[in-house]
Amino acid sequence: MSSSHLPSVAQRLKGKVALITGGASGIGHCTAKLFRRHGAKVVILDIQDELGKSVADEISGDDDGGATYIHCDVTREEDLHSAVDTAFTKYGKIDVMFSNAGVAGTSKFGLLQFPQSAFDRAMSVNVTGMFLAAKHAARVMIPERKGSIILTASIAGVVGGATNHAYTASKHATVGLTKNLAAELGQFGIRVNCISPSWLETPLATGESGLRGRHFDEFARRYFKLRGVKLTVEDVAEAALYLAGDESKFTTGHNLVVDGGHTVIDTASNLYA
Ligand SMILES: NC(=O)c1ccc[n+]([C@@H]2O[C@H](COP(=O)([O-])OP(=O)(O)OC[C@H]3O[C@@H](n4cnc5c(N)ncnc54)[C@H](O)[C@@H]3O)[C@@H](O)[C@H]2O)c1
Repeated sequence: MSSSHLPSVAQRLKGKVALITGGASGIGHCTAKLFRRHGAKVVILDIQDELGKSVADEISGDDDGGATYIHCDVTREEDLHSAVDTAFTKYGKIDVMFSNAGVAGTSKFGLLQFPQSAFDRAMSVNVTGMFLAAKHAARVMIPERKGSIILTASIAGVVGGATNHAYTASKHATVGLTKNLAAELGQFGIRVNCISPSWLETPLATGESGLRGRHFDEFARRYFKLRGVKLTVEDVAEAALYLAGDESKFTTGHNLVVDGGHTVIDTASNLYA
């Protein structure tokens, strides 16, 4: 069959409206692009206004209302309340909330050097921010009796020792929050899942945590068990696409780990290394 007879790639989110916190950069930016390619209207919520606006312009394409940027600090309930209301007024519904904004917290790893302010900041963005995003998305999804809420957790929500104390605690909390939200919101037809990527080269990881190029490659060789592929933001965006779309209609409370085997294969005693 010649390529002109092949069906075009299905638009898996056609007609859906998706909000993405932390959509100005990294995983959020990549997911915003992928969701648009699959036909969704996308609303980017972030605190990096210039970047957020440029991403919205970039992905809108010919469709003027295809993407919108709204300033929203996820640690402030009033910001999430008004961002969700603004998006709902503009698009008439919200099908997907990808609650993805996060911070690494600090590059300090020792408990005795760990400032309380850094701990509080990580918990505030990574936990309270997830809670508030889910709460205000659910507020408009419950009357519709459907919706998909996706939280970005991390391998730091699966194992200890991979990152600093605050980040690890916050991501374990995110996995727990996912399960509790799934328990309550299932009765309204709303699914809640999270995604747990391993380390990726984004501003979050290269900035506060101080891991850069060469370190990433060394890290990947040491911990990722899959060879011949490199973890990229596209891999996480594809996981989000699956959880946002109807292909995952019976999946809720799940932690979709995207880590090349990092957390399930023990590096020290692996017989096959
Ligand atoms: N990069 C990694 O190695 C990695 C691994 C696992 C999980 N994650 C998680 O992925 C998510 C996205 O991170 P990323 O790696 O794409 O980093 P990133 O720094 O590229 O993106 C994070 C985004 O969140 C936004 N943000 C930060 N604080 C905010 C706030 N208070 N309100 C609204 N937006 C805010 C930032 O402005 C930025 O645009 C985070 O939850 C992070 O914890 C990252």
